[in-house]
Amino acid sequence: MADILKHYDVVVIGAGPAGYIAAIRSAQLGFKTACIEKWINPEGQQVLGGTCLNVGCIPSKALLASSEEFEKITTHASHHGIVVKGASFDLKAMLARKDSIVSKMTKGIEFLFKKNKIDWLKGEGQFIGSDADKVSIAVKGLKDSDSQSLSAGHVIIATGSKARHLPNIPVDNKLICDNEGALAFDKVPAKLGVIGAGVIGLELGSVWRRLGASVHVLEATPQFLAACDESVSKEAFKLFTQQGLKIEMGIRINEVKASAKGVTVAYKPAEGAATELQFDRLIVSVGRVPNTENLNLEAVGLSVNEQGFIPVDDCCATANPRIFAVGDVVRGPMLAHKGEDEGVMVAERIAGQATHIDYNCIPWVIYTMPEIAWVGKTEQQLKVEGRAYKAGQFPFMANGRALGMDAPEGFVKILADAKTDELLGVHIVSVAASDLISEAAVAMEFKASAEDIARICHPHPSLSEVVREAALAVDKRALNM
Ligand code: FAD
Ligand code: NAI
Repeated sequence: MADILKHYDVVVIGAGPAGYIAAIRSAQLGFKTACIEKWINPEGQQVLGGTCLNVGCIPSKALLASSEEFEKITTHASHHGIVVKGASFDLKAMLARKDSIVSKMTKGIEFLFKKNKIDWLKGEGQFIGSDADKVSIAVKGLKDSDSQSLSAGHVIIATGSKARHLPNIPVDNKLICDNEGALAFDKVPAKLGVIGAGVIGLELGSVWRRLGASVHVLEATPQFLAACDESVSKEAFKLFTQQGLKIEMGIRINEVKASAKGVTVAYKPAEGAATELQFDRLIVSVGRVPNTENLNLEAVGLSVNEQGFIPVDDCCATANPRIFAVGDVVRGPMLAHKGEDEGVMVAERIAGQATHIDYNCIPWVIYTMPEIAWVGKTEQQLKVEGRAYKAGQFPFMANGRALGMDAPEGFVKILADAKTDELLGVHIVSVAASDLISEAAVAMEFKASAEDIARICHPHPSLSEVVREAALAVDKRALNM
């Protein structure tokens, strides 16, 4: 390894949403900043953006949007009196559109790095050691000549996560796929199996169902979308199964075998004898695990916990005072915006500011149709906490804008403290839940009451009126029901 030649104020390891935002904020604050990133895309190009931009949020939302357009034309256009005959799609063009969005976004980060004078060090980062003033890191480039060693006043670990695979189910990303292969099928499988009815299973299962696949989702737990408010998971299960997703709960996978004919999944259903299903392709979406291998954490006095995460405090500080960790590699929801906010918080704390995050106000979104979004506590959680609460719910079916948009499904449910009326949780099932939830997140950050939302003038006609009506319903005074 080469001698240590360069010193930076801040070095970030990983350029996913947590890392690239941490690097940009560090540079904005006047720190001499570098970001180490090793990602190589299928075209052999070294790229920034991590999971989110390359094989996560951005490509999945592009395919969700394309497949949704197709379903609107084939299924919903007729509800508006529009007659479309013989609609078809070109999968190659659809995938090319997705890839071009990814490329635009990853190049955008390259531009932002240049603009902010952030050095992109291409290769794998590995700790060498640390002392009271600095941390030493090796960067292993693609070629030995690209490798270098450097030091940093502070290091931010943002190495993200990768798909969890199951024992004896070898993912080849052709027949048996994790998120990477499932975003790039070269043809629509007639029969698609999905193991895991979580966020990826439902989003990507919906994409391929809309494009014509018969999709069968096998889920181990008996409770569908256990993290959601129960009324939301019930509504979502009803709507997704009506749309044609077959979702089987409480199963146990016995064996998965790939052959020239496809994939056979042998499993034990919740009730009855063991059985098997034959699929053309299989998606394994059973969660993600943090990336820490090869970091050589021991060299800087760090280790991982039982789940593989780097332990941090509420402000993302590790046990080494010069090292922070953010994003999917630490506790908390594996969400891009959570990692981004942690990146900003850490950069600002290195600069001596007192930034913090209220993790209770981080919104969640599942980009199915309708979308599911929530912020704060579910009714089940409040019951377990023994907190007295009031609930108000209002359906989109009673909203003129929703009917005009042919989007009457879903509702807004608001939970507020029984005594103080403080908002405790907001749960939305709607065509535009991802946007509507922002009002709730703002309100919760400001510790607003249900009454506050109920008194704020909302535009008419708009989907946001349903948020207001749900807030009114908390006090049993919805106006339009
Ligand atoms: P990552 O994005 O995983 O980035 C980590 C980066 O670190 C990678 O580029 C990796 O190459 C690099 N790295 C790792 N080790 C090293 C090393 N030693 N040296 C150098 N570089 C290294 N979240 C949402 O909020 N909304 C969504 O809609 C959404 N959709 C998703 C859809 C899918 C299919 C998937 C898989 C995930 C989705 N997520 C979504 C989750 C989101 O992608 C992650 O939460 C987010 O990417 C985490 O950001 P991160 O920066 O912590 O890690
Ligand atoms: P997930 O945690 O959402 O769901 C995994 C599901 O697989 C769970 O329901 C789990 O019970 C089930 N499961 C686990 N082992 C199983 C087994 N052996 N057999 C059958 N079922 C099994 O994980 P997923 O869908 O892989 O997504 C990973 C993470 O990526 C998410 O938790 C989320 O943080 C992030 N993500 C976020 C998105 C968004 O914000 N819209 C979209 C996609 C992913």
